[in-house]
Amino acid sequence: MATSQRIAVYPGSFDPLTNGHVDIIRRGARLFDRIVVAILVNEQKTPMFTTEDRVAMVREAFAGEPSVGVEMFDGLLVEFAARHGAGAIVRGLRAVSDFEYEFQMALMNRRLDARVETVFMMPAAEYSYISSRLVKEVVMVGGSVTGLVP
Ligand SMILES: Nc1ncnc2c1ncn2[C@@H]1O[C@H](COP(=O)(O)OP(=O)(O)OP(=O)(O)O)[C@@H](O)[C@H]1O
Ligand SMILES: [Mg+2]
Repeated sequence: MATSQRIAVYPGSFDPLTNGHVDIIRRGARLFDRIVVAILVNEQKTPMFTTEDRVAMVREAFAGEPSVGVEMFDGLLVEFAARHGAGAIVRGLRAVSDFEYEFQMALMNRRLDARVETVFMMPAAEYSYISSRLVKEVVMVGGSVTGLVP
């Protein structure tokens, strides 16, 4: 792989992948040569979908798009980024409510490895209210999520 490639990682739980995530991945794919979706394996939230299912969803949504990769990840994000030759972490910002947590994470990751830059992107307005949690809540009470997930 050419070292001049610009690679980004996009970490999250993606439980499940939503059209908000898809929007951010597409924007990232335009900005970077390669974007690796990094699916968190161990986390505090108990996921609804297995890691394998979450990987498969991303694979299916981006089949035939070689610039989008997907991997499982566990442990320190900056180490995952270094292993994949990524100089950037992509994160999505929906509203001011995302800001505080994202700000803390970005500065902590910078402290852990100053070579990795966090890049924030805003989704299209029609996706700005979507979260995996809300999608799951709607499905669980029998509502339709058509148009909100791939
Ligand atoms: N609709 C969206 N538009 C833009 N960015 C988003 C959207 N949903 C999630 N993101 C971003 O994607 C990244 C991964 O988020 P995560 O996997 O936590 O998704 P989530 O939808 O917030 O899930 P949960 O509801 O479980 O927290 C984060 O940077 C988050 O801000
Ligand atoms: Mg979230």
